[in-house]
Amino acid sequence: MHSVVQFCALLLFATSSFAASIPNSHVLHEKRGFEHPHWIKRSRVPSHKTMPISIGLTQSNLDKGQDYLMDVSDPESINYGKHWTAQQITDAFAPSEETINAVKDWVVSSGISSSKLSLSGSKGWISMDITAGQAERLFHTNYHVYEHVATGQKTTACEQYHVPRSIQNHVDYVTPGVALASPARAQAKVAADTSSMSLADQFAFLGLGNRTLASVVNDLSVCDRLTTPACVKALYQIPNGTSAAPGNALGVFESNIGPMGSYNQNDLNQFFQTFMPNIPQGTAPTLQSINGGTAPSPPNMTSLEADLDFQVAYPIVFPQTTQVFQVNPGQFSPFNQFLDAIDASYCNSTAFGITGNTPQIDGPLANCGNVKPTNVFSVSFSSEEFSLPSTYQQRQCNEFMKLGLSGKTVVFASGDTGTGTPSRSPAEGCLTPQGVPGPGGNIFNVGSPVACPFVTTVGATQVNSGNSVNVPESAAVDPINAFSSGGGFSNVFATPQYQAKAVSNFIANGAKGLKSYSGNQALGANGGVFNASGRGYPDVSAAGKHFATFLQGQFAGTVDGTSAATPIFASVINRINDQRIAAGKSPVGFVNPALYANPGVLNDVTTGNNLGCANNTVGFTASTGWDPVTGLGTPNFPKMMNLFMGLP
Ligand SMILES: *[C@@H]1O[C@H](CO)[C@@H](O)[C@H](O)[C@H]1NC(C)=O
Ligand SMILES: *[C@@H]1O[C@H](CO)[C@@H](O)[C@H](O)[C@H]1NC(C)=O
Ligand SMILES: *[C@@H]1O[C@H](CO)[C@@H](O)[C@H](O)[C@H]1NC(C)=O
Ligand SMILES: *[C@@H]1O[C@H](CO)[C@@H](O)[C@H](O)[C@H]1NC(C)=O
Ligand SMILES: *[C@@H]1O[C@H](CO)[C@@H](O)[C@H](O)[C@H]1NC(C)=O
Ligand SMILES: *[C@@H]1O[C@H](CO)[C@@H](O)[C@H](O)[C@H]1NC(C)=O
Repeated sequence: MHSVVQFCALLLFATSSFAASIPNSHVLHEKRGFEHPHWIKRSRVPSHKTMPISIGLTQSNLDKGQDYLMDVSDPESINYGKHWTAQQITDAFAPSEETINAVKDWVVSSGISSSKLSLSGSKGWISMDITAGQAERLFHTNYHVYEHVATGQKTTACEQYHVPRSIQNHVDYVTPGVALASPARAQAKVAADTSSMSLADQFAFLGLGNRTLASVVNDLSVCDRLTTPACVKALYQIPNGTSAAPGNALGVFESNIGPMGSYNQNDLNQFFQTFMPNIPQGTAPTLQSINGGTAPSPPNMTSLEADLDFQVAYPIVFPQTTQVFQVNPGQFSPFNQFLDAIDASYCNSTAFGITGNTPQIDGPLANCGNVKPTNVFSVSFSSEEFSLPSTYQQRQCNEFMKLGLSGKTVVFASGDTGTGTPSRSPAEGCLTPQGVPGPGGNIFNVGSPVACPFVTTVGATQVNSGNSVNVPESAAVDPINAFSSGGGFSNVFATPQYQAKAVSNFIANGAKGLKSYSGNQALGANGGVFNASGRGYPDVSAAGKHFATFLQGQFAGTVDGTSAATPIFASVINRINDQRIAAGKSPVGFVNPALYANPGVLNDVTTGNNLGCANNTVGFTASTGWDPVTGLGTPNFPKMMNLFMGLP
């Protein structure tokens, strides 16, 4: 009798689900509940292959992170501007000894030598190089290679994994794990490809008749068709820079995308010569290389994004300098590689028993805190919230919180696809109730990490046709190219306190009949298209249409994107820091609390909309006060300068 039962049980193991072989002591820790539209599952990882494994340890005091950040960023706080040192940050958030020991003991008792383990300097990660077979036994999972549908990029992931119940509270998540990133996308595109036209034909196409390039450089009457540095300065009353506080270069994040690299020096030179002849030829950002990123790039590998970013930023920040944080992400997330590289404590390994880094094959430890951060970062790249586990996004967002605590400002582009308007591939667009983009999906798709409440997110505006720079701008929108200012509400992050009033005012008065879900309701409940309890974005906006750009050695016509708006806003903050440093004050750090408390320092944008889920439909509408299309509005440089110079 007994043996028959055993026999049945064995049969059950052989034929039933994988989960049946998970010991009772273990629990499911994370599971990707959907077939990822961007990645195709390929072969099993060979069991002898060495994999760099990292276990994210639960940090201490994260529930207080928002209060700590408000304490140094809220203009009403007596500690405004008193940013924390790296050591204070490590001490506040490091996982407890109990957490570190519990996870270490489990790994070692599973047969992995303690000499293989290393603990990061922030104590946030336990890392080890073990074989895929060992990792599969440790986490009761199967690892596969996944291939990206569009880029052919390969990565390693599993569908679900398990940890002992007794240590579950001590583990955030494991990498590689269930996360499959959507490779970050640049948020810029050429409005219409006129590169094969003569300059005269391009100008005629832009509605500039027989004008010449030289004649439009300082002509503000063309700003509704061609956005030049003079237009941007006039719109936001930005005076030419005259000073350069030491150590205040503007940081610009760039990521290689396939074969495309960074900016091209000849393009910058041509742009300077045409629009800003006072900027010397050869002026270039200092390279901060992350994971082997290189800059500048040859013409055939020039990134439109990088050319645009520097052509927008230099006219505002000069004579200050810039730095390019060029990430070559390979199969990993460029954002986490960037965070690894600039956080001086994040990946400083001190092994159990041995000191120093374990040589890594590849992966997040390529650059370990050896890249010095700038006071401001401009990031015109974005991914999507649905495609990443919430644990991963929360941990990444907390790193942005720590950057804010240390006095850094991180400025992100809100994205170019409105509420999730499909534009690039069928795998993109609005979400179905399953939480994945798909046909008929009408639930707004949210960007990542732009919806993290600890970054400043920038939407795009435009000077409407026929208007001068003195007429208020509208939200940027171009139905033909499916371009519009990205905006919406997170499904992962709750509305932060600093924007609670602004968001509830929008939902009460500006949502124009759009239905929402909230709290614990299911995605799309009651026909809702956005999460009324989520963090709303963007926070602010700036011009994002028809930027005059040089690319591949010639005038490229006009470029659209929140990609242009973002370096404008970041450059404004850089200029404010220049003055604050000269006055012996700290850089501004995280600016959202000060801006939401003083919306009058921004030009409220109250007209226009972004695009909805179906082509040429309305998503959110710009309205009086904050809205999820243009945020609080565009910079009023003198008023912003006054506000921040008046703070301690
Ligand atoms: C440009 O066009 C305007 C109006 O079409 C005309 O008056 C002017 O003479 C033209 N200028 C040149 C240099 O061709
Ligand atoms: C660009 O040109 C270089 C040199 O001719 C070549 O090695 C490289 O493969 C080219 N890259 C692309 C993306 O075409
Ligand atoms: C700012 O600099 C530009 C480019 O050198 C110049 O054309 C413009 O006249 C300057 N503006 C002021 C107000 O000095
Ligand atoms: C790494 O840790 C060692 C020992 O604590 C310390 O001396 C060193 O400065 C740290 N390096 C970085 C980049 O944090
Ligand atoms: C979207 O609508 C616009 C305007 O009706 C049209 O010109 C464009 O081709 C459409 N785009 C797509 C992708 O269907
Ligand atoms: C909506 O946002 C809240 C607050 O962040 C969150 O708890 C909830 O899970 C979100 N709803 C959905 C369906 O994602």
